[in-house]
Amino acid sequence: MENEVKLAAGAVVSLAIATAALVVLPYLQVRDVTPPPGLKPYTSAQLRGRDVYIANGCVYCHSQQPRDRGLGPDLARGWGRASVPGDYFYDKPHLLGSMRTGPDLFNIGARQPSKDWHLGHLYQPRAYVPGSIMPSYPYLFEVKDAAEPGDEVLNLPPGQGPFGRVVVARPEALDLVKYLQGLDHTYPVLPPPLKAKAGAAAPAPVHAASAAAS
Ligand code: HEC
Repeated sequence: MENEVKLAAGAVVSLAIATAALVVLPYLQVRDVTPPPGLKPYTSAQLRGRDVYIANGCVYCHSQQPRDRGLGPDLARGWGRASVPGDYFYDKPHLLGSMRTGPDLFNIGARQPSKDWHLGHLYQPRAYVPGSIMPSYPYLFEVKDAAEPGDEVLNLPPGQGPFGRVVVARPEALDLVKYLQGLDHTYPVLPPPLKAKAGAAAPAPVHAASAAAS
């Protein structure tokens, strides 16, 4: 019986430690995060585009978290500075991603601002990047005999579109591209405030001094 009590107590303590380390501490670390001044909230079109991004599983191949220089060559790859918690202020759910079958997209809006390029690349990635393994998304587009007023017709590279017909972007494709163009976190961010650092460091010399004195 005594062993069962020990087992149950051990389980409860292990669970409490895990909850503190994985839930409570991270929550305390990020609960006061504010958006950097350069970060704009999403527009409603960008939010719809974000839903298209989620629905089509883009996150399974693309991350949105450039790493610090010490952890990888992301800056040298042109993916931008290391992201900070505030960059994700408006992201619910976050789309950090864990796989990089394709490039990181956290700053794709700055790297590739062209709407034409994005629409064409979604319709047929291999028309722009020979040998690309990114899937094409033809159902985000409509092939028509002729464009109607208000249609967004794709300017595909010569020989890539259906012969004698036009490819028109559906609203989902247009929203998705607005979201991609808005992925621009190239504004500067400040390092963590000195106050917090000084506050954390200040008690240390006091302890060191009293330890030396005793
Ligand atoms: C199976 C993995 C895979 C999926 C799923 C995928 N991609 Fe890609 N993506 C890639 C690869 C590989 C590349 C690099 C080759 C290229 O540019 O086509 C790429 C490139 C890109 C680029 C250009 C990046 C740059 O730096 O030039 C964009 C933008 C992009 N993908 C957006 C998307 C969007 C939006 C979706 C979802 C609708 C998506 N991808 C889904 C693999 C994927």
